[in-house]
Order: sequence, then structure tokens, then C-alpha cells
Amino acid sequence: MNGKWSQLWLKYDSKKECGNAAFLQAVTICGFDENHAVVKNAIEELKMGAQGMLGVAPSISAGGCESDKNGLAIVKVAKQEENILEEGYSLEAKDGTLTLKACDEKGLLYGIFHVLRVVSMEKSLAEVNILCNPSNPLRMYNHWDNMDGSIERGYSGLSFFYENNEIIINERTKDYARLIASVGINGVVINNVNVKQAATYLIDKRYFQEVCRLATLFAGYGIKLFLSLNYAATIELGGLDSADPLEPKVIAWWQGKMKEVFETIPNLGGFLVKADSEGRPGPFTYGRTQADGANMLADIVKPYGGIIIWRCFVYNCTQDWRDYKTDRARAGYDNFIKMDGDYHENVILQIKNGPMDFQIREPISPLLGGLKKTNQMLEVQVAQEYTGHQIDVCYLIPMFKEILNFKTYCKETQDTVADVISGRTMGNKNAGIAAVINTGNDLNWTGNELAAANLYGFARLAYNTDLSAEEILDEWIPQSISTSSQVIEKIKRILLPSRVVYENYTSPLGIGWMVTPHEHYGCSVDGYEYSRWGTYHRADHLGIGVDRSENGTGYALQYHEPNASMYNHMETCPEELLLFFHHVPYTYVLKSNKTVIQHIYDSHFEGVEQVEEMIATWESLKGSIEDSVFESVKARFGRQLYNAKEWRDQVNSYFYRKSGIADEKNRPIY
Ligand code: GCU
Repeated sequence: MNGKWSQLWLKYDSKKECGNAAFLQAVTICGFDENHAVVKNAIEELKMGAQGMLGVAPSISAGGCESDKNGLAIVKVAKQEENILEEGYSLEAKDGTLTLKACDEKGLLYGIFHVLRVVSMEKSLAEVNILCNPSNPLRMYNHWDNMDGSIERGYSGLSFFYENNEIIINERTKDYARLIASVGINGVVINNVNVKQAATYLIDKRYFQEVCRLATLFAGYGIKLFLSLNYAATIELGGLDSADPLEPKVIAWWQGKMKEVFETIPNLGGFLVKADSEGRPGPFTYGRTQADGANMLADIVKPYGGIIIWRCFVYNCTQDWRDYKTDRARAGYDNFIKMDGDYHENVILQIKNGPMDFQIREPISPLLGGLKKTNQMLEVQVAQEYTGHQIDVCYLIPMFKEILNFKTYCKETQDTVADVISGRTMGNKNAGIAAVINTGNDLNWTGNELAAANLYGFARLAYNTDLSAEEILDEWIPQSISTSSQVIEKIKRILLPSRVVYENYTSPLGIGWMVTPHEHYGCSVDGYEYSRWGTYHRADHLGIGVDRSENGTGYALQYHEPNASMYNHMETCPEELLLFFHHVPYTYVLKSNKTVIQHIYDSHFEGVEQVEEMIATWESLKGSIEDSVFESVKARFGRQLYNAKEWRDQVNSYFYRKSGIADEKNRPIY
């Protein structure tokens, strides 16, 4: 890709001084090895930021830990001293000195980025007094990049990791590492979970040197490199006739392979595996369980400190559900719950937030907190596969907050999803959160400039799950777009409700789907590629929705009480999920006093109006923000409006024809 890519929230252009320059002129470092790669990179970053934003060239010296000099004093402390944990830091400004304390290099790095963030937001360092410890041990981006350069569900150009089956390492790779380290990401998977073509060979000698270079570059920013693994590599790479996890020759092959891999790439964190799903191979083929497969690999990588992240997105995409009892939503739980407690310590089960597949609204997966003795990681999708392809604006952080705050009732206390995946619930350390990420080689990284709020926001939330969706925008907008309070307010007005707006003009009341098959952008009411046995909405002339109560598929009962009962009964089921759990007549009356069919009409008309309002707000920013950003987002808004109208018209006319019930307000339904 030609031209210079954006520095996103690390722009380092000139800022209001706010009394900050004095803090960055002299920097003393105590207790840290200045030659450690992470420390070196942190200092380089500090210099770059101070120079770019404040025109200051900091002097760096090794100082006594009780520095009384004015400026920034960086001090290494023992773990847990002053409540500072691994990868955490504290910052305290007092009498002209800003003291940054951390117990490890990553904490130092994050602390420096915090300082730069404050400067970039034009806030005063003199007022900083904060302790920050990460909420989650693992905070990961998952890239679905293929080695031919394409990206599965990528909406921002091609891969910046691969081209023509070769790995790319250049200046941009370093900028990527800086960007993601600045928001606390500490792990990254660089290839698609569907490991096909050359990606199988990332664990082959042919790529070792390049993978090792990448791993080393990332390690310098506190980031562990992980690879997606092809479960059938014994066959596809090793030439064996089996991938049975209990067969000695299979185990022996993996032992040899992992030895080779970890000896050449010592910084490797481990592997991510998609098995037995959507055509991918797995242990089921050999009559073995998911635990058999995961544990076999985990035992082999254990001596090298490796972990196996095993995805729970295991379902049979060709299943016949015409009996109305078979239900894709049940699959994750049914496939994994029986083996709870059997997964080895260095296995983490990575669970999508919902039981289906990243819809605009889904209930929380009952596996989260359903599993009580197994390491768990949450997987969300920042790439906007079902949420607008980064053409439509959809700020996803409010949804992620809902997911994290959900009470699973797996324990009397500390039972939210945030508790479970942080390790607080079970006291485990192999835990965390991952996002299928939305980057590509577009110069702005995310296609739509506003989609970078999700890239930034996910990571900040992963580091600190207490941040609100609004606080995250209060950080992201001034660093990325403008520090003008008017601009900040207007962009917040666009972004904060945008998830609900998207939901309004697409699929109501938790029904989901209704998208064009394969592409997953644009409306096709009966669409979706795996609907060969009927539609996912189960609408007929009388009603709509899927009965997942005890009388239907029984999915609702997969939750702990009182959630199970709440979802099981129509009256107590949260209305935004009503059609996910129940089949109801179109005339069913909601709490708003509207019928379901009227709700469908109203929300679709309203969704389009809301997009028009968003556009008007955006238009009013002309001249106050960079022209190129203004124009490129404006162009995408034009496409969003078209899309919203398409959805409105298709959904409304479909359900009007099906139900025969007219819109009370008599609006045109095409
Ligand atoms: C969805 C998506 C696929 C992806 C899969 C997964 O089904 O459409 O492209 O491979 O999720 O998460 O593995």
C-alpha cells in the first residue's frame, strides 16, 4: 500500500502545553535495565511523544529511587508493593515530580503510554494520581488474515502481515506493535482461525526465521505472538494418515514439531485452535472429545510455557433442525460442558460472547460461567461482520460492557462475565479476552475512521473493564480526531447510540440474521447460508421467533437460575431478546404497549431517521476536523443510509405480507 498510514491515537502532533513540558524534560530511571527491549522502546516512545507534542527533548538518566529532581521519575518496585501488580503501574504527581512506579517492564511501558495519553488529551499531568492494574491477564487481538493477503471478514483492505504467502515485516509492523501496546494488548494471533493453504506451514521451517523476527519485535512491546493451528497438521504437513489425539504416532509427531518450533521461536505464546467446526478438522473425526484434542497439544507445549487456546465455536453447520428441538444455539454448551474440569491447566477455552455468531444482539453464551472448573476466555468481534462491515457506524463498546456486566450466577459473588474471564471467580491466571479485530492495510487501518474507536476501545476495556463506553470515547476522540469539546460532544452523540440504531434498522428483538448469505452485509430476510432447513427467524403468517424455552429447544435451561427461568418465560424474558427465546404472535403486546409487528415497523422507520440525524451531526463537523476524515466518513454514511433504507423496506414489507397486518401509522411500506 502506498502512502503513509495513519498513526491513529498516537499522532503526536503539537498540543496545548497545559504545564506538562516541565514533567518531561528530565527523566530518571531507577531499578530497570535500560537495555531491556521493552524499556528501550518505552523511552524511545516517550522521546517521540514529548518532542512531537510539546517540542521537548527529555534527558534520560539513571537516578536514585528517591529522586527529588523535578520531572518524571520511573521507579521499579517489588510486585504488590503499593498494590502494583504485574503489568500494572501507578502515577503520582507531587511538587513538580511525576513518579511512575511499576514492578515489571510492561507496567513501565503502559505507564509511559498513559503519560503520553494525558498530554495528547491536553490534560494536566500535575493532576495525575492513579493506580492501574490490568483487569485481564490475557488481552488479545485475533487477526483472521490469510497468507495470500486476503482477510476473512476484513473490511479495511488487505493484510499487512502477509502478501503472496510471505510474511511482511516493515515499519508499519512496528507502528502496529506500538499502537496496540499503547492500549495494553499483550497477545496477538496473526493468522486466520481457518488455517488453510500456506498458513499450515507457519509451523514449518520455511517460515521460522520470519515468525521469529515478528515474535521478537512484538516481545519488545510486551506482546506475545500466537499462531492459529491446523488441527490436522499431522496429515497436511506431517504426511501421517491420522490426527487422532490419542494415537502414539500423532503425539510423537507433535512432540517433535513443538520442540522444533519453540526452540527456534522462544517468544511464542502458544496456539489458537478452531476444531470440528465449519469444515475444520478436529478430534470428533476420531470419536474423541474436544478435551482429548486440547489436552494432547497442551501437554506437549507445556514444557515451553506455551498455552492452547481452544475455541468453543463448535457446531454442526449442516444440522437438520426441522424437529424444532435441534438448535445451533445449544451446541457450544452441549459440546463442552460435560468435560468441565477435564481441561489441563494450560488450556483456555475461548468462548464467543453469544451462542450463535456475533449478531447485533444475542444472549450471553451459557458456557461463560456455566463452566466452573475450566479456564475461560471471552471472544468478541470488533471486525464488523454482522454489524455493518465498517461501512455503517456501529460503536460496539456498549455491547461489550453489557456482556462483561452480565451476572452468570455461577457463584454467590464475583459471578459476572468480567469476573469469570479475569480469573477472579476461580482464582486462575490463564484467562482473558480476545477480539477478532478490524484492521487491514488501508491507510486509516480500519476502513471507516470511526471504526478505530472499536479497535481502541476494546483494548482499553480489556485492560480496564471498569471504563465506561463514554469514558473511552473521551479518550479516543481527543487523541485521534480533535480536542475541541464541541467535536467531542458531536462524535459522542453519533457513536454512543449507534449500536442501537443499527439494531433498529436491521433485526429486532433479538431475532438476528436476515443477512445476505456468505457476505453478511445487507438484508435478505430468509437469507444466511446455513438456512437450508428453514429460516432462522421461523416466521409464519401468525408469528415470529424461536421457541427456546423448555417447550421448545430447551436452550433457555442451559443457564444457571434465576437466568434460566427468566429466559424460559415470555413474561420475564428481556424484550430485546424476546424473539431469540420465544415464538410469539405478531399481535403479542410489548411493555411499550405496542404489538410485535408494530414494533418491527416503528423501529425500522426510526432506525433510518436516526441515521439521517447522525449524518446531519457529521455534516456539522465540516471545517472543524481534518477534511480527508470528514469526506471519507461522509461517503460511508451515504452508503449506510442506503443500507438502512434497504433493510427498512425489505423487513417491513416482508412482515407486512406475511402477517397481513397494516402499519398503524400508515407509512409507505414497499
Ligand atoms: C463466522 C464467520 C466465519 C468464521 C467463523 C468463526 O461463522 O462467518 O467467517 O470463520 O465465524 O468464528 O470461526
